Amino acid sequence: MASKLLSTKPIDELLKSAEGEKGGLRRALGPVNLITFGIGAIIGAGIFVLTGQAAALYAGPAIVLSFILCGIGSGFAGLCYAEFASLIPIAGSAYTYAYATLGEIFAWIIGWALILEYSFGAATVASGWAGYLSSLLADFNIHIPPQLDAVPGTKLIFYQGTWQKASNVLPAIEKAGINPATLPHATGIFNLVALLVILVITAILVVGVKESANLNSTFVTIKISVLLVFIGLAAIFVMHHSHIVDMNWHPFLPPNTGKFGQYGWSGILRGASVIFFAYIGFDAVSTTAQEARNPQKDMPIGIIGSLVISTVFYIIVAGLLTAVVPYTSLDVADPVAVGVAATGVRWGSILVNLGAVAGIGSVMLVMLLGQSRIFWTMSQDGLLPGWAGKVHHRFRTPYISSIVVGIPVALAAAFLPINELADLVNIGTLSAFTIVCLGVWVLRRKQPDLHRPFKTPWVPLVPILGACISLGLMAGLPSLTWIAFLSWGTFGLLIYFFYSRRHSQLRQQQTGD
Ligand code: ALA
Repeated sequence: MASKLLSTKPIDELLKSAEGEKGGLRRALGPVNLITFGIGAIIGAGIFVLTGQAAALYAGPAIVLSFILCGIGSGFAGLCYAEFASLIPIAGSAYTYAYATLGEIFAWIIGWALILEYSFGAATVASGWAGYLSSLLADFNIHIPPQLDAVPGTKLIFYQGTWQKASNVLPAIEKAGINPATLPHATGIFNLVALLVILVITAILVVGVKESANLNSTFVTIKISVLLVFIGLAAIFVMHHSHIVDMNWHPFLPPNTGKFGQYGWSGILRGASVIFFAYIGFDAVSTTAQEARNPQKDMPIGIIGSLVISTVFYIIVAGLLTAVVPYTSLDVADPVAVGVAATGVRWGSILVNLGAVAGIGSVMLVMLLGQSRIFWTMSQDGLLPGWAGKVHHRFRTPYISSIVVGIPVALAAAFLPINELADLVNIGTLSAFTIVCLGVWVLRRKQPDLHRPFKTPWVPLVPILGACISLGLMAGLPSLTWIAFLSWGTFGLLIYFFYSRRHSQLRQQQTGD
């Protein structure tokens, strides 16, 4: 029994299926598309929202070091993903790599954990996206009724020109000496905006991978332009106001308050575990392996290229942001807008709302794309029902899988306070990173002579460091997140034992069924 659970899929069989039989997914993506997909999934809410909070509460200007630390940790995992994605270019990503190295049960667990990364990820950022769209439209005097922009029962208050969640703004309102009862109130009915955006993205994913890549490129161009404008403005400000920079950057590493994680070196670590969210997404590139024209060569370019470009942006933006604004003023929902305003420019809010709408838009697009490809692969292996593996005859996309993913994600984003479960996205992603890192090492030992188009350097050091950093970040997550993660895993295992194990293609081949 245990040996069956640990059965691995032979690599040559996987490679044969990767060759792309007639009627399979369309191989339409080149290296630029892949890098753009990576940047599409990586740069989003993390840099536009979390940077300010992490600097203000945990690391001060040394948040730059948190970004470097996370970049190095993600880099280790990225190198391991790159080796696997070029060696086994299959859309199942970490799920397939675990199937080839550690066995079916591990593959299932990781496939199940990836739902947390991709589906929960898309649903959690969808409500943030809706908020940014409302703010952007409000800049042009178009107002979405607040009741249709929040999940049922959310208490909202109109403060400083926008509708905001009461729980987020009440402290600021009280601090300003305003009686909250005097401000307009509303209660959310459901988040229509989040529902519609997920449905529209799902429709585009159904229509074609090239169409999806084009929309993603548009979003990426907008968000990169917004960040470049911020960098330009902030750099000019820094050149002309070095005394302000000296003030804001001293101390660069504020002394620890005596509590773990509040500034000092432990604050850098705490900051890193928060902004890790900003790095999530490069792995989604590997889910497009069966739609890449030359995956062996281009997968590593897409994964590592997008990770390096995003890391450079993150470090520069975080450095400039803390240089132009005192870090203590950055615990706001739109820190980059505060940064632009500090340079004397008045249109910061429009710029940042536009960047966030495009940025989070592409994150949702690539996450939903990744999820549908993973379900599609799991269905090919028999672990999910056959309909999830159907490819549309004209669009050549896994259309049923995309729809089956898109509808529940849209409903969850519209009706559930799912963004309160954001840490689940981190834990699901980190568990996949750990398995992928360990998998590279295991496969190097088991099959050292395989032709690897891309080789992770310094094995086993890099995979061990990648796995340890991922496990360390997982350990830092709250116990409630762990309980939710373990419950999710248990639910997944029930499905595995009652359905997937019995329908597994590999098992049927082995028993000659
Ligand atoms: N990395 C993605 C973001 O920051 C998930 O939004």
